[in-house]
Amino acid sequence: MPAAPTAELVSAARASGHGVAAFNVITLEHAEAIASAAEQTGLPVILQISENAVKFHGGRPEPLIAATTAIACGAKVPVAVHLDHINSEDLLRAGVAAGVTSVMFDACALPYAENVEVTARITAWAHERGVWVESELGEVGGKDGAHAPGVRTDPGEAAAFIAATGVDALAVAVGSSHAMTERTAELDFDLITRLRAGVGVPLVLHGSSGVPDGDLRRAVTAGMTKINIGTALNVAFTAAVRDHLVAEPAVVDPRRYFRPARAAMTSTVAHLLKVIAA
Ligand code: G3H
Ligand code: ZN
Repeated sequence: MPAAPTAELVSAARASGHGVAAFNVITLEHAEAIASAAEQTGLPVILQISENAVKFHGGRPEPLIAATTAIACGAKVPVAVHLDHINSEDLLRAGVAAGVTSVMFDACALPYAENVEVTARITAWAHERGVWVESELGEVGGKDGAHAPGVRTDPGEAAAFIAATGVDALAVAVGSSHAMTERTAELDFDLITRLRAGVGVPLVLHGSSGVPDGDLRRAVTAGMTKINIGTALNVAFTAAVRDHLVAEPAVVDPRRYFRPARAAMTSTVAHLLKVIAA
């Protein structure tokens, strides 16, 4: 089947009161593990490729998008492919040319007026091509982006930002931070409820690896729809590789340690899918 549009997965999740999980793809094994977990659980999923992942692969988005899309198309459940945290307009255009139908354009480190201007222009360009756009708003005037600890999104400013830019979904700062390896984030559920009431588009939670299971579920109930997770997969991957190399220091074939690493990611994703999307 073709890759599922992110727009459809997010709309269906929002309409049914569930979440939809979006996991970051760095290697082929990440994409294989995520799709395999989605098939095991029978739940849809989003594979997302960040600008940093593209940089890791030499700056060309096409090979990673092609491989990830092939895995999405081969899955027995709906799997979407999305571009995540894209700052470069050139990369965004190259990703759309390579077939991606949803993007997160991240200009939140810019001053507010510039963020609005560039996001509105990119969103108009994307909508002309049928591409769904997620954007991000943290603290107006904040310098460290939306997901630095302590930053919060104001519901009134979020509504004004959406009206001014036309974005289809909004990443909001509600207490999570990127790249946490311990699940100790404390979400502001009252703020999520107020954002859900005051903002007309689906809300996206970034930095979800740091949020405990019960709070992820509670965040979805309170109004978050798209739940982004990256670091949790890398924790599972790296622990499995490390364990294997410690136990078998003479190993040289990467398949010997990539196999358990991929299986560990599959198990992590399957668990999180049941928490978020079931
Ligand atoms: O956009 C990606 C997510 O926000 C991933 O965050 O690696 O902290 O789970 P995380
Ligand atoms: Zn993020």
